[in-house]
Amino acid sequence: MRALVVGAHGQLGRDLVLLLGSEVAWSGGRAELDVTDWEAVSSVIRRVRPDVIFNGAAYNKVDGAESETGRALEVNAVAPVLLARMAHEVGALFVHFSTDYIFDGRAGRPYREEDCPGPLGAYGVSKLAGEGLVRASRAEHLLVRTSAVFGRGGNRQKGGSFMERILDQARAGRPLRVVADQTFSPTYAPDLAAAAVALVRAGARGLYHLANTGSCSWHEFAVRGHLRAGRGHHRRGPAARGRPSRVLGPRPGALPVTWPSRAPPLAGRARGLDRGLRRPSIGPAP
Ligand SMILES: NC(=O)c1ccc[n+]([C@@H]2O[C@H](COP(=O)([O-])OP(=O)(O)OC[C@H]3O[C@@H](n4cnc5c(N)ncnc54)[C@H](OP(=O)(O)O)[C@@H]3O)[C@@H](O)[C@H]2O)c1
Repeated sequence: MRALVVGAHGQLGRDLVLLLGSEVAWSGGRAELDVTDWEAVSSVIRRVRPDVIFNGAAYNKVDGAESETGRALEVNAVAPVLLARMAHEVGALFVHFSTDYIFDGRAGRPYREEDCPGPLGAYGVSKLAGEGLVRASRAEHLLVRTSAVFGRGGNRQKGGSFMERILDQARAGRPLRVVADQTFSPTYAPDLAAAAVALVRAGARGLYHLANTGSCSWHEFAVRGHLRAGRGHHRRGPAARGRPSRVLGPRPGALPVTWPSRAPPLAGRARGLDRGLRRPSIGPAP
């Protein structure tokens, strides 16, 4: 594979680059290539002529998208279609990532690829628009929806990894209140990268849901991390907070967003929560 990875300094981007190693013909973050800069994007892709383009770039601030809707649409909808067009021009496969926020979270059962989207906020709308434009493009594409990505080093837009922020606050003895009314399938970025690359190697095209199995609320996730990292240096465990997200409202625990997928089962896929928590960057295994 001759891969080009944009948004390469994000959680997923970093793991894609690590995993692909010498198969990466070009990679860069926003400083090297702003995906909304059409001239720069077309010039890099024409020069590199990859056979697969991975898009790790995204505007990911769920609440922020309400006030920065134009920016969210630019990065999450316009840029992917430009990348898809360029992929078509050079004959590359375009691999794009989307989110469970394109659903309203109220299905009462796991979401399948064929379920009808119904985003509740501007972030979900921007990601859904990106999906639609990529699907309508003439590019060969693989579209991967995922949920609650967490990785080594965390998400810069959100101020680091969720778990690292939780553990830092616990160590400092600050009281923790974590939302308990939204349920996700926490997905470990290295697992997501490996699954997406495996799909590419298997020749998959079209839409796939990929997430680590199992689901939990952010509060359960924080409690488990807190326990696993060892109670010694944490004075207080996280308390549940009921205030729903300004944008989404509650996603009740009774309605888990798990992701049975058309993707073939992959060796080593385990519950994201447990796998991620075993990693040194998040906390030592008990
Ligand atoms: N994180 C989640 O919980 C989650 C859940 C479901 C789906 N997803 C999807 O999974 C994919 C990967 O997410 P992630 O967690 O790896 O996100 P991430 O850590 O926030 O990484 C996104 C990267 O995109 C970069 N970026 C933003 N605007 C850009 C631009 N105009 N040009 C180039 N790069 C730009 C960011 O750079 P800066 O750091 O400079 O802003 C950041 O490095 C995304 O499509 C996301 O929507 C994520």
